[in-house]
Amino acid sequence: MAVRDIVLFGEETLRKVSHPVEKFNLRLHLLLRDMADTMYDADGVGLAAPQIGILRRVVVIDVQDDHGLIELINPEILSMEGEQAGAEGCLSKPGRRGWVVRPNKVTVRAQDRKGNFFELTGEGLLARALCHEIDHLDGKLYIDVEDHEMTEDEE
Ligand code: NI
Repeated sequence: MAVRDIVLFGEETLRKVSHPVEKFNLRLHLLLRDMADTMYDADGVGLAAPQIGILRRVVVIDVQDDHGLIELINPEILSMEGEQAGAEGCLSKPGRRGWVVRPNKVTVRAQDRKGNFFELTGEGLLARALCHEIDHLDGKLYIDVEDHEMTEDEE
């Protein structure tokens, strides 16, 4: 188990565009392991590689549904449907949440740890997590799209 330090809002790394993964090797597998360890240790539902200082297009998500741990390499959003509004936070800004409107259903295409392409459709929280984490790969943060910052009594 290797829990990495999480890069916080305000650091330049989170504003950079991450590079595609080209080699599906042991190094990638170790990165995926560390990302999952770091996400679970912080009680998060998703983590993108730039959040541990690695500018590669890699995401892990676990919204504690039947999907279990989802690993996405080079993910791209294929389609979006509907709309949901709700509270959203980020492991790079502990203790803060914002009100963010997202699509309610999202389909992504990505590669698995061996490089095989697959498609995944998520609704509700999973759709929100997919949008949030894929945004990280392009240097986008939820504070860019939030409607307003939430206080504790709003939640
Ligand atoms: Ni985040």
